[in-house]
Amino acid sequence: MKRVLVTGALGQIGTELVASLREGLGDESVLATDLRAPAPDHPLADAGPFRQLDCTDGSALARAVRDARADTVFHLAALLSAVGEKRPMEAWRVNLGGLMEVLEVAREEGTALFTPSSIAAFGQDTPPDPTPQDTLQRPTTMYGVTKVAGELLCDYYHTRFGVDARGLRYPGLISHSAPPGGGTTDWAVEIFHEALDRGHYTCFLGPDTQLDMMYMPDAVRAAIELMEADPARLRHRNAFNVTAMQLAPARLAEALAARIPRFAIDYEVDPVRQAIADSWPRRLDDSAARGEWGWEPRWTLDAMVDDMLTELRAARTAAPAGEGASAVTLPPDSRG
Ligand code: NAD
Ligand code: SER
Repeated sequence: MKRVLVTGALGQIGTELVASLREGLGDESVLATDLRAPAPDHPLADAGPFRQLDCTDGSALARAVRDARADTVFHLAALLSAVGEKRPMEAWRVNLGGLMEVLEVAREEGTALFTPSSIAAFGQDTPPDPTPQDTLQRPTTMYGVTKVAGELLCDYYHTRFGVDARGLRYPGLISHSAPPGGGTTDWAVEIFHEALDRGHYTCFLGPDTQLDMMYMPDAVRAAIELMEADPARLRHRNAFNVTAMQLAPARLAEALAARIPRFAIDYEVDPVRQAIADSWPRRLDDSAARGEWGWEPRWTLDAMVDDMLTELRAARTAAPAGEGASAVTLPPDSRG
């Protein structure tokens, strides 16, 4: 991997993935693209090459891949679970229509391709704890349907056309650089901002709703390590279960209250997102990723909470709440 194009680069993952790729490959070797232009205070504004690009436009994508001389595409553009339930047709169009265009470009231009799947690729009939690598997948959300179909499409392009397509099933991701994009796990980011700004968080999931989670530095490293792994060792190319920790709102609230004594949480359950969360695994079995390419998470719950608070406090000192991207958490239907 020497030259990279990233779609959906301004989102929660892309913001940190692009920075990490640029650290390793150099700024000019990583073309960040997104449907929208970066706001002036976005960490990627003026930070390296950027092109506005709709991933469903195959010709524009092919041009960008050629212009960037990319050998690898990280395809992050998608609508997340809660937004997908509000706009299911658009989720289908962007998540699957976009992926088809990206796969075709990868086939024609000979690039490798990383595509994230999700814990959302499972449903309520899947064994929840632990959820095996290979198991029943009958998701009940449009987002989940697009993720299962995407895993299969990527496998198909690999076996049929030899495209070097690889992917991970990410759990909920926690980060401080960019706000989450409208998912069911967004509470695990929102809670930090609200704890610091108000000392209080009203959670849209119930206190004991346990889901898999991961801190963003682990998620970014997992994507890069998978793309650098020896292909001969990869049996589950496009859908590796990966996880780092299991978290329920009450448990994270406890960890925050230990550090911010005035912090309190209450609950106003959103039935749509609660039903989505209840259909997802409680704990993924990630032994295939560990065995096939050496996956190992580094961030524990306590280390993640300390680091998030340090980073968010620093961002608030640099840009008081309301003035900086990292101090703003967008509502679920405002992105995508
Ligand atoms: P995000 O919502 O934060 O970012 C997605 C980006 O895609 C946005 O910047 C948006 O502007 C862009 N986008 C939307 N439509 C587009 C289009 N037509 N063309 C180009 N760009 C478009 O999402 P994220 O959290 O960074 O997730 C990236 C990928 O990882 C997605 O496939 C998502 O399903 C997957 N994933 C994320 C999580 C998580 O917790 N964040 C967990 C599992 C899987
Ligand atoms: N974090 C994502 C969501 O909640 C899971 O893919 O939609």
